[in-house]
Formats: sequence, structure tokens, C-alpha cells
Amino acid sequence: MSNNLLAGKVGIISGALDEKSIAWKVALKAHAEGARFVLTNAPLAMRMGEINKLSEQCEAPIIPADATSMEDLEKLFTGAQEHLGGKLDFVLHSIGMSTNIRKGKHYGELNYEWFLKTLDVSALSFHKMMAVAEKQDALNEWGSVVALSYIAAQRVFPDYTDMSQAKAVLESIARNYGYRLGKQKRVRVNTISQSPTKTTAGTGVGGFDAFYDYADKMSPLGNAPAEACADYCISLFSDLTRYVTMQNLMHDGGFSSTGISEDIVETITKLNS
Ligand SMILES: NC(=O)c1ccc[n+]([C@@H]2O[C@H](COP(=O)([O-])OP(=O)(O)OC[C@H]3O[C@@H](n4cnc5c(N)ncnc54)[C@H](O)[C@@H]3O)[C@@H](O)[C@H]2O)c1
Repeated sequence: MSNNLLAGKVGIISGALDEKSIAWKVALKAHAEGARFVLTNAPLAMRMGEINKLSEQCEAPIIPADATSMEDLEKLFTGAQEHLGGKLDFVLHSIGMSTNIRKGKHYGELNYEWFLKTLDVSALSFHKMMAVAEKQDALNEWGSVVALSYIAAQRVFPDYTDMSQAKAVLESIARNYGYRLGKQKRVRVNTISQSPTKTTAGTGVGGFDAFYDYADKMSPLGNAPAEACADYCISLFSDLTRYVTMQNLMHDGGFSSTGISEDIVETITKLNS
């Protein structure tokens, strides 16, 4: 059901790799709500070609950009404004990657070059996007910038290794750039801390199925699906949330406020008996 929440709004959506991607669902919903936008992803991801389907469905052009490259990001923001005919109302940062996780390195044996790459791709890229937007004065007043985070920024999830630090930096960047863009342009900046979700990035984390099930059992509402995360993004891009900024917003079915659930008690009791 569409409510035209984003009618007349224009923006950039990064990170749609395939149909499972959270950004993919955000793009479909943003289109349904009347937004026009440009899609972007790393040139390497483009080769899979999946994003072309989404581009057709949403009538959204694709501008490839490695989110760690200032040069690419400059071209992305210039190109998006040219195509969309003016400044932007919303930007979605939906980007994460850790070679340490991909290669199964445990926390004590992290490769530091990869660690720096994790921070660059998954966190500094968020700063870079906003720095480019600021330099180009690319955002409209009352615009909205959103990035996706995970609760490993606050709590320990051993297999999430260096991504935990990346998410902590990402959330800090949202607060600090949120202050700056709020003062300059009344633009809001937030992170959404999403439940474990079965996507390429998500399922790449060791023990994913176990912590997916654990989070599901711990959350009174169950894990928040990707579609619901997309709905939350749309609400943050809309004019209904104009004074929400510099926040890390939990979108986790209640996981982060639950100490222990009846489901977990039951499971452990059964295991012990
Ligand atoms: N899946 C989960 O369990 C979960 C939970 C909480 C938060 N998140 C976050 O949601 C965001 C989206 O991930 P997803 O779960 O939809 O997985 P996904 O694998 O579909 O998306 C990750 C995207 O990052 C892109 N990317 C990687 N390196 C890049 C670079 N250098 N430049 C530009 N793009 C690059 C990939 O191409 C891909 O499209 C990530 O920030 C992720 O950490 C995911």
C-alpha cells in the first residue's frame, strides 16, 4: 500500500546487490512511495548484473561508485543531481564488508590491513558521502541521511570481529555529522540498528544461523524482516520524522531491551534435562 510519503522527493540509494539486500527493498518501497532516485554500488558488485533488474523496475539509473573513493563519490553526487534535476532529499548508506569476516579470522588474529579496509568501506565511506554532499551543497533543507548498523556496536558478538568497531564508528559519525548538517541545513542523520537479516553480508558472518535464531527467540516481536527495515527507512526519509536526528534507532523486535526471554529459558531447560 502506498501513501505517497515520498512524493516529489529525490535521493541516492546505495548497496542493492540482489533481491535479498535491505537496500533493494528500500528502493522498491521508495519508488512505490513516489520518490525518484539514483542507485549506486561498487563497480565490482555491478558485474553480477542483478541491479539492472531493480533499475528497470524503479526507473532509476545506476551510477557505479566505490564508496571509499572520493573521486567516485564526487561523480556520484554530481551525476545524481544532474539526473534528478536538483539537490537531494535523502541518501541511504547500506554498505558493509569485512575481509577478516570473509576469511574467517578470529578476533585475536585480525589482519590489520583488512581491518583498515573494513573501517574504510563500512564506516568512513559514510563520512565521505556526507563530506562530498556538504562540499557540493547537494542536500535540500530538511533532508535525511540514513545508514544501517548492528547491535554489535554496543554488545559483543564474537564472530562479528572488526565489523563491531566499524559499526561503532558509523554510529559516531551519524551523531557528529548529524550535528554539523543539522546546524548547516536542517538535515537529519541517523543509523538504524537492524535485526540479523538473511542477506549476502549477513549470512557471511560465522555462526549466522545460530545468532539469527537466538535473536529471534530473544525478541518479543521476533527478528525484524528486511521489508520492515525498508519501511522504517521510508519513514525516516519522509516529512513525518523531521526532528529525529543523531540517533541510533533500534529496529530489532525488542531484542536490545530483553534480558532473557521465555523461549530461551525453555530451550536451555530442555537442553539441561
Ligand atoms: N544482514 C544483516 O544481518 C544486517 C544487520 C544489521 C545491519 N546490516 C547492515 O545493512 C547494510 C546492508 O547490508 P545487507 O544485509 O543488505 O547485505 P548486502 O550484502 O546485500 O549489502 C551490502 C552492500 O555493500 C556493498 N559494498 C561493499 N563494498 C562496497 C564499496 N567499496 N563501495 C560501495 N558499496 C560496497 C555491496 O556491494 C552490497 O551491495 C550493511 O551496512 C550491513 O552491515 C545488516
